Parts: sequence; C-alpha cells; structure tokens
Amino acid sequence: MQGEKPRGCTWRSICVTGATSQLATFLLPRLIESGIAVHAFSRNPPVTSTAGVDWYTVDIGSGAGLPVIRAEGLLHLAPIWLLPPRIGDFAALGVGRIVAFSSTSRFTKIHSRYAGERRLAEKLAQAETRFAKECDRYGIGWTVLRPTLIYGGGNDLNVTRIASFVRRFGFFPVAGPANGLRQPVHAADLAAACLAALDSPAALQHGYNLSGGEALTYRNMVAVIFRAQGRTPRIIQLPLFVWRLAAYLSRMSGSGAAINMGMVHRMNEDLVFDNAEARRDLGYAPRAFWP
Ligand SMILES: NC(=O)c1ccc[n+]([C@@H]2O[C@H](COP(=O)([O-])OP(=O)(O)OC[C@H]3O[C@@H](n4cnc5c(N)ncnc54)[C@H](OP(=O)(O)O)[C@@H]3O)[C@@H](O)[C@H]2O)c1
Repeated sequence: MQGEKPRGCTWRSICVTGATSQLATFLLPRLIESGIAVHAFSRNPPVTSTAGVDWYTVDIGSGAGLPVIRAEGLLHLAPIWLLPPRIGDFAALGVGRIVAFSSTSRFTKIHSRYAGERRLAEKLAQAETRFAKECDRYGIGWTVLRPTLIYGGGNDLNVTRIASFVRRFGFFPVAGPANGLRQPVHAADLAAACLAALDSPAALQHGYNLSGGEALTYRNMVAVIFRAQGRTPRIIQLPLFVWRLAAYLSRMSGSGAAINMGMVHRMNEDLVFDNAEARRDLGYAPRAFWP
C-alpha cells in the first residue's frame, strides 16, 4: 500500500488544509522544524508570508481545481465532510497518506434533543465512512483523529469564549450544577498526535478519540478559567427557564451570538472518552487543563 511507511521515516512534502485553524498554529511550526515542505491551503491565506510554507488560496469545499504541486501526505484540519469528494484530486498530487480530523461530536450529539445537532453527528459519521472508503479506493493510508473540545489557540468557541465573558462581566452563568464531565484538549497535544499518526503503522486505516489529559466538571473547567486569569471564580447557577428566555432574546436580537440550548443542556452531561488506544499507538500524552 502507498500509505505504509516505516516509523521515523521523514516526509518531504505535506499538504495542510484548514491551515489557518487554531490547530494549524501549533502544527505548521512543527512541520517546518522537521524540514518538511508545507503546502498550506486556505480560503483566506495570511497576507504576510511564513518561512517554509507555500500558501495557496483554495476553497476545499468548492469543486475548484487544486494547485499543480507534488505532495506525499495530507493533514486535513478543515471540516471532514469537505474531504471525501477531493480524495481523487489529492491522489493525483501524489498523496499516499492522509490524517484527517473529525470530532467526538459524532458520538455526543447523535442523541441530542436538537435536530441540527443530530444532523451534525450524522454528517460527521457519514463523512468518516466515505473518507475511509475513498482512501481505500485510491490505495491511500488513512487515519481519523477525533478531538474533544479544543483550546490553546486563543480563538476557540469554548474556552476562549468563556474567558472573554469572564473578563468582561466578572462572573459566569451555568445551568443547574453544571456537573457534566469535560476533557478539554490542547491544540499542541493534537498537533503532536497528528505527526505521530503520520509515522505510525498502527494508525493506518484506524480512528482515534483524542480527549484531553484531565476530566473535570463543566463547573470546574469554568473555575480553572477564572483562576488562570488570576480571578476568584464567581459562577452563577441559572434555572433552565432563564436560559430559554435568554436564548430567545439573543435570537431575536440577531446579534449573531445566539445562545445554543443544546450546549446549555450538555453542561450537565458527561462528554468523556478513553484515549488509551492513542496513548498506545501514538505515544499520545495530553496535558492537564490549564488555559
Ligand atoms: N474546535 C473544537 O473544539 C473542535 C472539536 C472537535 C473537533 N474539531 C475539528 O478539529 C479540526 C480543527 O479544529 P480547529 O478548532 O483548530 O479549527 P478552526 O480553528 O475552526 O478552523 C477550521 C479551518 O477549516 C478551514 N475551512 C476550509 N473550508 C472550510 C469551510 N467550508 N467551512 C469552514 N471551515 C473551512 C478554515 O480555513 P480557511 O478559512 O483558512 O479556509 C479553518 O482554518 C476541525 O476539523 C474541527 O472540525 C474541532
């Protein structure tokens, strides 16, 4: 198979999609340090150039052609459902190994009370299946990585959003006891796992759940975010009807920051995943939570 490469083998050229993501912030420097030529794809590449990176303006979600380059592998950090229709295009560039990011939401949102969330879970599951099938068709070695909630890049919609709310208002509202367990995972630990997957024969044609190094309740996660900013936690428990009213008002205001009731309910649901397989095959060693 094209994708089989011995552990420790060096890669000469790698494509990265979603190259402006928070994950890429940690991944690109590691690829550059390893002396790998990086072809970075983005709909909006940075204006300033990055040493060691060739940027290409590509909307991977459109049918637009890919640039005429040669690459051995692809690290796909953009939404996974964009990838299956493009596998043939990447194979034509010489790509024989792909590591793609999905999400543990494919499991956690499948029984959501909200149809939109269930659709997202199904979309992720179907995309993983199609991705594997297309790669097998083209003889490409594949790996799927499914993180829990990612933080570390300073622009995520969970930890960073909580932190900015805390800075602005000095308190944080939760629903009920907010005792659902979370395992936030640092983007730098995911970057390390991604590189390890690229070189691991055990990771070929396999998927891994990549949870963080510590499980803590949603309430404790918020408390840690307060402490990381040198503040004493001020966490206020609001009843569900207040959340519903706030969600309604935020939708009506059209501010674009509508409160997601699915997320509110999940504050009391456990979203934890065993990462033993990734520890074994990828030497995955995620850190404890500290934003
Ligand atoms: N954030 C989380 O908590 C979380 C949790 C689990 C899984 N994941 C998955 O892990 C991967 C990396 O996450 P991240 O938080 O680092 O990503 P992110 O910061 O949200 O960035 C996503 C990237 O996808 C690219 N992209 C290309 N086409 C897109 C399209 N049509 N729609 C939306 N984005 C498009 C964007 O790049 P351009 O705009 O430059 O094209 C962007 O850089 C993603 O696959 C994500 O789905 C994220």
